[in-house]
Amino acid sequence: MLRTPADFVTISPQSRASGRVRVPGDKSISHRYAMLAAMADGESTISGFSPGADCAATLECLRGLGVTIRRTGPGSMTILGRGLGGLQAPDNALDAVNSGTTMRLLSGIVAGHPFRTVMTGDASLQRRPMRRIIDPLTKMGARIDARDGRPPLTIEGGSLHGITHEPQVPSAQVKSGVLLAGLHASGRTRVGEVIPTRDHTERALEAFGVRVARDTTGVEVEGGQRLQAQTLTVPGDISGAAFWAALAGGTPGSSIHIDGVGLNLSRIAVLEMFRRAGVRVDFSRDDERAGEPVGTVSFSAADCESFTVDPDEVPLVIDEIPALAAFAAMMPAGKTFTVRGAGELRVKESDRISSLAAGFRAIGAHVEEYDDGFTLEARPLAGGAVDAAGDHRLAMAFAIAATRAAGPTTISGASSVDVSYPGFFDELARLTR
Ligand code: S3P
Repeated sequence: MLRTPADFVTISPQSRASGRVRVPGDKSISHRYAMLAAMADGESTISGFSPGADCAATLECLRGLGVTIRRTGPGSMTILGRGLGGLQAPDNALDAVNSGTTMRLLSGIVAGHPFRTVMTGDASLQRRPMRRIIDPLTKMGARIDARDGRPPLTIEGGSLHGITHEPQVPSAQVKSGVLLAGLHASGRTRVGEVIPTRDHTERALEAFGVRVARDTTGVEVEGGQRLQAQTLTVPGDISGAAFWAALAGGTPGSSIHIDGVGLNLSRIAVLEMFRRAGVRVDFSRDDERAGEPVGTVSFSAADCESFTVDPDEVPLVIDEIPALAAFAAMMPAGKTFTVRGAGELRVKESDRISSLAAGFRAIGAHVEEYDDGFTLEARPLAGGAVDAAGDHRLAMAFAIAATRAAGPTTISGASSVDVSYPGFFDELARLTR
């Protein structure tokens, strides 16, 4: 691997990939712990916090709302809560940078405060759809201005009332944003959920002492419940671990072992997908921290199979599709991976369908693109030049597949890995050494 000063990384072909890894703290859980700690009574202590830029953006936004956050070590901090409804009006616009989770969840929180907040982000975030959160928050009583439903958002918060919301697209971010607004609202707030999405907000709220009513059709909170400060450890990010599944699974004779990974039921569908594709996956739940199961997982290469992710499975593996595609590109020629019903991929950090198709084609795979997905057919990979389109998960996916190409691959936009996985390329070099 060669790092050049600009935003490029060159990956050279590798024949082995084995070892033990610790993945960064889970990005979704880190955002939630920081936000709930900021809303709680008392001082919370968090360790294992994601080192990625997305979660750093959440911390900066919370500071902008008057929250005192003291770093006590790598991934460790104390957050002095301001109590429910106790955030301060920000002096400046809050910058969520590349983070959709920061913008959608924090919108719900500031909507419950009687001041004006402007929330903005980088060029990628400014292209992402926000009506899905604007509409329910407006129904609850907030006033929100946006540019054609996109950031920057200007939110005039105030006294909210509870609603019942049925989201048009399954989204943990929207569910969470509405529930967090609901805590600041009068009465009950319910979010319907027909297809399940990750439930970290529900578990984190319970860990902070909030009663959450859940059934198979949705989630409800009663407004006005206060949160109690907690001491919390964030589990390792299974979405980061998925790239090592692809690497081990796609490199004959390899195996990679990971400790301390979050194994929440709403996140482990990816393990089933890798199994379906022929990767040997072993995992065990060893512990539960604040309602989040944690354990070890190991991945080994085995015989690969063509595989499919069905539309109703998509929400549970939405972030791991790039890793699954990387694995697919490393399979023997002629094997395929198909995903449909994944139109949401077009509004992630990049248009993940077209950027993914372009990148894998550039190194030699065959990719057929659909409106709502793609079929990737493995071919002998040649290597070449690919663009991650500023998208952390694509940068990692291309890097993993590139290890099995015949020649070197240069990835532009490679520093985007810092969004969720700083140090990713060093780990890749270590595991393939
Ligand atoms: C996230 C939910 C997902 C996911 C994102 C993180 C979360 O987005 O893609 O990376 O932390 O709630 P949607 O809920 O919008 O699908």
